[in-house]
Amino acid sequence: MAHVLVVPYPSQGHMNPMVQFASKLASKGVAVTVVITRYIARTTSGGGGRGGVDAGPDVRVEAISDGHDEGGVASAASIEEYLATLDVAGAASLADLIAGARAEGRTGGTRPFTCVVYDTFAQWAGREARRLGLPAVAFSTQSCAVSAVYHYVREGKLAVPPRPPAAAAEARSAAIAGLPEMERWELPSFGLGDGSYPTLAAFALNQFADAGQDDWVLFNSFDELEREVLAGLSTQWKARAIGPCVPLPTAGSGATAGRFSYGANLLDPEDTCMQWLDTKPPSSVAYVSFGSFASLGAAQTEELARGLLTAGKPFLWVVRATEEAQLPRDLLDGATASGTALVVRWSPQLDVLAHRATGCFVTHSGWNSTLEALGFGVPMVALPLWTDQPTNALFVERAWGAGVRARRDDSAGMFLRGEIERCVRAVMDEEQQGCAASARAGARRWRDAARAAVAPGGDSDRNLDEFVEFVRAGAG
Ligand code: UDX
Repeated sequence: MAHVLVVPYPSQGHMNPMVQFASKLASKGVAVTVVITRYIARTTSGGGGRGGVDAGPDVRVEAISDGHDEGGVASAASIEEYLATLDVAGAASLADLIAGARAEGRTGGTRPFTCVVYDTFAQWAGREARRLGLPAVAFSTQSCAVSAVYHYVREGKLAVPPRPPAAAAEARSAAIAGLPEMERWELPSFGLGDGSYPTLAAFALNQFADAGQDDWVLFNSFDELEREVLAGLSTQWKARAIGPCVPLPTAGSGATAGRFSYGANLLDPEDTCMQWLDTKPPSSVAYVSFGSFASLGAAQTEELARGLLTAGKPFLWVVRATEEAQLPRDLLDGATASGTALVVRWSPQLDVLAHRATGCFVTHSGWNSTLEALGFGVPMVALPLWTDQPTNALFVERAWGAGVRARRDDSAGMFLRGEIERCVRAVMDEEQQGCAASARAGARRWRDAARAAVAPGGDSDRNLDEFVEFVRAGAG
């Protein structure tokens, strides 16, 4: 009997889509177990809120060690140290889990695992699966385009352009297999090419180093969204898009809003913001969130506050507890007192995006946030900071027409208030008919395409069925 072990990198943006993937797989009748860390298992929803890992009743959740059982990533000396510890402790703990299930399987207990789906940010899990003789399937939580950039750069097929001022001819990367020409700032920025984050750059570039030609590589994307890039990657591996891994209402399901089941919420959402949204007219609110990890800094936070205020739209802004000290509360006092602004520490993001009052998403362009906005048809104002975000934002604006990208002011090194105001107005103001209408139409088109992809018989659904056949065949 098939039993798939799903191993995400232990952070919000990686666990969420992989837990969603696990529940989709289970809905196809496959036994699935998801691995989380002991620290996350112990600390999520410690306050009794709705946080936690919820993959549905058919998915088992098992905890392993990341080498930081007491304090998680925050207790590591640096991210580099965390990655190194996770590599060793994660692999050892995973091997114990696999061996334990094998031993129990022989005595009729837990079924042994027959396949491991590992996050490309958790190469150690793929390595361990192969060592133990199990099929190892890679899962990328980034876009196909971003994955392709890392892979092609590593293979020497794509050159990172030099820093400006470069000769015009050298200022862009070459177009390759569905990737457009890109300026340096539009490429995923783990310090590629300049050595500023050597460990992280190597980590990102090597994500697909172990994937051989016969291996499956699953992407949280869908065919229509990234067709050409996927075609290019399919010449390298058995690349299949099975997303978006977002619990979208599909045609005929009747649901358009309401409480969505969440893959993983490492923080407790503040549901009170839903009542605040209920008081607002349709498509009137700018929802502002920078995901689980990004830190804007005090100066950028103030520029954002000023830009949002002058744009003149009601806004719901997620500022995580760890970022709260940077918030210029005095600037926001008037708007929060009058009910035109609300700041929360963590939102039920899918409910917010599905709410009729939400008119635009001011986002850092993390891949999950991008897919969620597309899936709910919400036009985006992209303020990308680093990693995969600049490339996601490029595609949102140029390839998919689902929003606008703010331009960073090079001398200030941040997005200035006037630019933020311009972008919010461009997407939300009725007077700005051309831009706002086309961003909204683009978002609606992708909402329909995303839902069609995951509906029964859609491209992603069929790709998942093909994967299920592979898993079943391998289990004998
Ligand atoms: C990061 C990267 O940005 C992403 O591209 C990569 O593939 C995974 O790691 P993160 O920066 O946290 O993730 O952003 P994002 O990918 O957008 O994921 C954030 C998740 O948290 C989303 O699923 C979003 O729905 C959820 N979220 C965010 C909430 O539920 N509530 C919030 O208030 C904010």
